[in-house]
Amino acid sequence: MKDRYDEYLKERDAYFDRVTRLGRRDFLKASGVAAAVAVATGKALPHSFQPVDVVQAAAPEQSFRFAYVSDSHLYEKTLNERFVRSILKAVDDVNALVPQPDFILYGGDLAQLGQAKELDEGAQILKALKAPVRMMVGEHDWYLDMGEKWRTLFGKDTYSFDHKGVHFVVLNSVIVEDYWTSPKMTPMERMLAMAQLDNPNGRPFTVGDAQRDWLKNDLAKVKPETPLIVFSHSPLYKIYKAWNFWTDDAEQVQALLAPFKTVTVIHGHTHQMLTNRVGNIHFHGMLSTAWPWPYAPQGLPKLLVRMNRADPFDEFDGCGDGSVEVFKNGRSDKNYNLWSRNPVKVSAGYLDSDGAAARPPRETDVNY
Ligand SMILES: [Fe+2]
Ligand SMILES: [Fe+2]
Repeated sequence: MKDRYDEYLKERDAYFDRVTRLGRRDFLKASGVAAAVAVATGKALPHSFQPVDVVQAAAPEQSFRFAYVSDSHLYEKTLNERFVRSILKAVDDVNALVPQPDFILYGGDLAQLGQAKELDEGAQILKALKAPVRMMVGEHDWYLDMGEKWRTLFGKDTYSFDHKGVHFVVLNSVIVEDYWTSPKMTPMERMLAMAQLDNPNGRPFTVGDAQRDWLKNDLAKVKPETPLIVFSHSPLYKIYKAWNFWTDDAEQVQALLAPFKTVTVIHGHTHQMLTNRVGNIHFHGMLSTAWPWPYAPQGLPKLLVRMNRADPFDEFDGCGDGSVEVFKNGRSDKNYNLWSRNPVKVSAGYLDSDGAAARPPRETDVNY
């Protein structure tokens, strides 16, 4: 038994050693060792992306597809190997997609406590992705040094780009009012406070005046019939303030998006399947690779397709990654690639019909 454990430790060290030097070529080797470690410890790695989705994606009106990975909450690998294994699994999943997605959106909270080593580790791992990566910031990346390290690694936190006729916008929606200077909190105290689900002394997330002005100017150049896809870390609507499943100036941002015919907003932060529609705007939450949050006790949207409570005996349950199929009409289907469950597609038709048509099948798994 001891030999087996020593062997496991040796394999684990070799695995993390590779992770630190991870380049694209080393990635396959590293993930191979991850699988070996999983087998040695009796933990089967869950399934990868279903090829079935790829076939469905070939519908005639499909325009392109992008993938997403979000909320990996990396600690330094010496402190927590589990979250490193999870993001590696997501990278593996996305690299296995055929055809490759046009790009990957990283949905924020790459780091757990915004530390340079955590962000460096995440940046290094994401380099193994074959398709180009677009980054978005989350509060866990930001509040140790107010985004300094993140910006050094990844550039601007607010930007837009055009791709195959769609205008994409990436926002920093985790800006909060300064509540740390007057009580003289240290950067780490500020970070730890922001990292709580409940932060009773905190302030709600906002996009903020400056960024809303920027958005207004950016959208002034875009025709109302151009499809719009907006990425935000927090949902750009209000669910539950006590957990900051909330953006305080959401209505003002929605008003800027309202003149556009086709708008989809995709967000991280909530670590769960989440669907909503406000007027013409379709909203989808992204899965986390690290852990699923429970649903908020109130404020959930009526179009929610609820996933079951996670199995506490399965570290990957309720976690995952996913993809978005964008159609020529600008609408999108959202694919949730849940690692220990069947994938779930929440289609544009379901939202367009306000839930009357194309309702995704309910989960049949038991709750634990
Ligand atoms: Fe998160
Ligand atoms: Fe977050």
